[in-house]
Parts: sequence; C-alpha cells; structure tokens
Amino acid sequence: MTDRSCLSIILAAGEGTRMKSAKPKVLHEIAGLPMVAHVAAAARNAGGGDIAIVIGHGADEVRKAAGGFDPAPEIFVQEQRLGTAHAVLAARQAIEPGYDDVLVMFGDTPLIEAAPLLAARKKLAEGAAVVVVGFRPQNPAGYGRLIEENGRLVAIREDKDASEAEKKIGFCNGGLMAISGRHALSLLERVGNNNAKGEYYLTDIVEIATGDGLDVVATEASAESVLGINNRAELAEAEAIWQRRRRHQVMLSGVTLIAPETIYFSHDTEIGQDSLVEPNVWFGPAVRVSSGVTIHAFSHIEGATIATGSQVGPYARLRPGADLHEKAKVGNFCEVKNAAIQKGAKVNHLTYIGDARVGAGANIGAGTITCNYDGFGKHFTDIGAGAFVGSNSSLVAPVTLGDGAYIASGSVITENVEGEALAFGRARQKTIPGKGRELRERFAAAAAAKKKSVSET
Ligand code: UD1
Ligand code: MG
Repeated sequence: MTDRSCLSIILAAGEGTRMKSAKPKVLHEIAGLPMVAHVAAAARNAGGGDIAIVIGHGADEVRKAAGGFDPAPEIFVQEQRLGTAHAVLAARQAIEPGYDDVLVMFGDTPLIEAAPLLAARKKLAEGAAVVVVGFRPQNPAGYGRLIEENGRLVAIREDKDASEAEKKIGFCNGGLMAISGRHALSLLERVGNNNAKGEYYLTDIVEIATGDGLDVVATEASAESVLGINNRAELAEAEAIWQRRRRHQVMLSGVTLIAPETIYFSHDTEIGQDSLVEPNVWFGPAVRVSSGVTIHAFSHIEGATIATGSQVGPYARLRPGADLHEKAKVGNFCEVKNAAIQKGAKVNHLTYIGDARVGAGANIGAGTITCNYDGFGKHFTDIGAGAFVGSNSSLVAPVTLGDGAYIASGSVITENVEGEALAFGRARQKTIPGKGRELRERFAAAAAAKKKSVSET
C-alpha cells in the first residue's frame, strides 16, 4: 500500500443544528479529541497522509482547530451546501495534482478506524474505480441503499429517492468512499442534482462509473464504525463505544482494570504493563503512566507523568505538570500540580503541592499546603531530599527546605530552612498543672449561679 499515494477528503460543512451548540458539530469531542481529528487520525493511519477538510462558510473555529492537527490539513470552503459531491469538488485543487487513491470521509463519523479504509484502498489497488464502504444498520431508514445486480454494485439510491422495493434493502452506504484518483474528477463533474433533495449526491458516481464500464465494489464495515453523530445523545453513544474499545485494548496490553466500565481514558492516555487501575478513575489529556503503577479508586488525573512503582489515590487529583518519579506516593485527598514528587517521596494525606519539588524520600505530613499563590503570581517551593514536613504545615512560597530539613507540625514556614535543621513556625505549647480543674470548677459555679437567678425571677 505504501507505494500508492493517497489524499483523504473529510467533509465537514455540516450544519449540526441538532447539537444545539455554539460550537461546530465536528469540534465536539470524543475522548477529549474533536470528532474531525479522530477521522483525520484514521485517515493518517490508513496511509491517507495528505488531508483536505471541507468546511462550511464562516467555520473559522474548525479552520483554527485543524491548524493544530499533525500533519496540518489543507482547508477548503464550500460556500453553499449543495450536496456531498459538490462538497468534494470544493477540494478540487487538492485532487488535481493527481493521487492514486482518494478517500472521502465524513467529519461527523468519528469511530472510523484504519482497517476499513485500508480494505477499501486494497480494492482500488486491485483495479476498482470506486469502492463504497457499506454496512447493515438495524434500521436502514435515512441511509442510501446499495443496489446490486448479479452481485455487483451498480447504484446507490438515497432514501428519499428509493422505491418501496429498494427501501427493503438492508445493505446501506456508510458514507465512506474510496475513488481512483485517475477517475475522481471526471466522475464528480458529471454528477447532477435531479433528485428529491435537489443536491449533488456523491453517491451518484457509482452509477456514472458503472455506465463507464468501470469496476465498482462494495466492502462492509460494522455499523458501529460508521456511526454518524447528529445530537448529544449520539455523541455520548460514540463516546461509550470509543471507551469500550480503548479499555479492551488497554487490558490486552497488560493492564488490570478491575471495573473497566468505570474507567475513562483520553485519546492520548499511555499506560504501561502490569499497572492496575481501581474503579472510577478519570484520565484527562496528556497522561503517561509507566509500568507497575497502582491508581487507586476515584482519582482524577490529567497532564501527569507517573513513573514505575508509584501509587496514586484513592481520591487523588493530579493536575498538569504533576511528575511522579519512581515509587512516589500521592495518597487520599491530595492535589498535585506542576510539581515533581521525586523518587520514593510520600505525600499521603489531605495535601496540596503546587509549583514545587519534593525531593527523593521526603515525607510530607497530612494537611501540608504549599502556599504558592499570593493573588498575583505563582511561587516555587523547593523541598530537599529526605526532608520531613510535619502535619498541618503551610509552606509559604517562595521558600526552600534543605535536604533532611525537619519541620515541626503546624508550622507556617516563611523563611528558608537549611539542610538538617529543625524549624518551628508556631507558638510553643505551655502546660499549667491543675489549671484545667480550676477552670472547670469556676465555669461550673458561674453556670449554676445563672440558672438560680433565672428560676427566681
Ligand atoms: C449520506 C449519504 C448516504 C449515506 C449516509 C451515511 C450522500 C448523498 N448520501 O447521507 O448515502 O447512507 O450519508 O451516513 O452522500 N456535507 C457537506 N456539504 C454538503 C452536504 C454534506 O460537507 O453540501 C457533509 C456533511 O457535513 C456530512 C456529510 O457530508 O459530514 C454527509 O452529509 P449528510 O447531509 O449527513 O448526508 P446524509 O443524508 O446523511
Ligand atoms: Mg448524515
């Protein structure tokens, strides 16, 4: 396949009004990635590396988002929405240089994977001029029906144009087509709009190619993989399918998920072998988990790197820039942001570590807070290797604790502490023998006197 050049055209000039959203439909996300980026990724994985996206008039947000894709696609604008063939022709300049294969895909069909695209490209390599990726939906209403004669695909009839007999056909157009680059423009240019919708139908190229005596072929994909998204309920359905697929892959790669249906991955989550994820864990974007890591239940993790042998949670929140080195521990109700927790360091209970370094082997007591923000800027807290921070301490940044420093519980640390030093940042305790009893007796007498005066009035 690699010797054949390929252009992928993604149609995304949809109106998407049923999403009820200020955001263009194809920018709604599955696993944290816009739908149209999922489609582009499938195209890329199928070797369709040159990507053109056809957007509607004024869809600048889509243009902007696509600029961040790798590789950045070429954007074409379909000024008027006159049909799928018309939309493909909006990318005429991309087709003209001449490709072996041209793939046409829809931007609102995010679950498509490389395999059906590769299968279609294989048919082109074998001599087909047009390949239609078909599927068998539970209910074919609304889809184009694949009309076959003597086992050969001869036409696609859109639902609105289909006869009663044709409406009974269960094999439908999934919306993906592979077209021989040599024939693409000549086929597309001959499409007319004499049909129920008055649109230029891409699907008409099947009949035109058949008329030219060219080879037209249908392949079959799962209904799931060509699921089109039109509203938020379908968006959630696609998310569920995507998550189910990814959990399955993750488990087969050697990760234990105790309750897989409760784990949510991002499109880019990496997680190494022999890691274990307890129930109800959320992975946001840009998380890299090494091997042999345990993520305890109810943890929320994004933008974090977690090295081998680390333990996270339960109920931990790791925010962007959290960098857990080997065998680090971040325990229950702890939040870590933009901070390295170096080898073997422990942050176990009810703590906030932000904009900081916690040196190797350091122990951070319960309720420790790095006071990193003064209302205007963020400041750094540097905690040396082997330091011990007693419970309920506030470390007011910028501040440095040297290696092996020892902070007494309940301290408010505002000045640097040198290595191996002991720092108290609180009032010293004073204990007065017998004073407790004396106080209690005084208070009791006062209360009894008050009660008596009330009952006499
Ligand atoms: C299309 C197919 C139908 C197939 C179904 C699968 C045609 C004529 N029909 O029907 O056979 O069964 O998809 O879901 O192709 N678009 C543009 N510009 C346009 C029109 C459409 O960019 O002028 C884009 C839309 O954004 C969408 C895609 O093309 O991504 C399909 O358009 P849509 O109107 O949803 O076509 P269907 O009627 O669903
Ligand atoms: Mg549609």
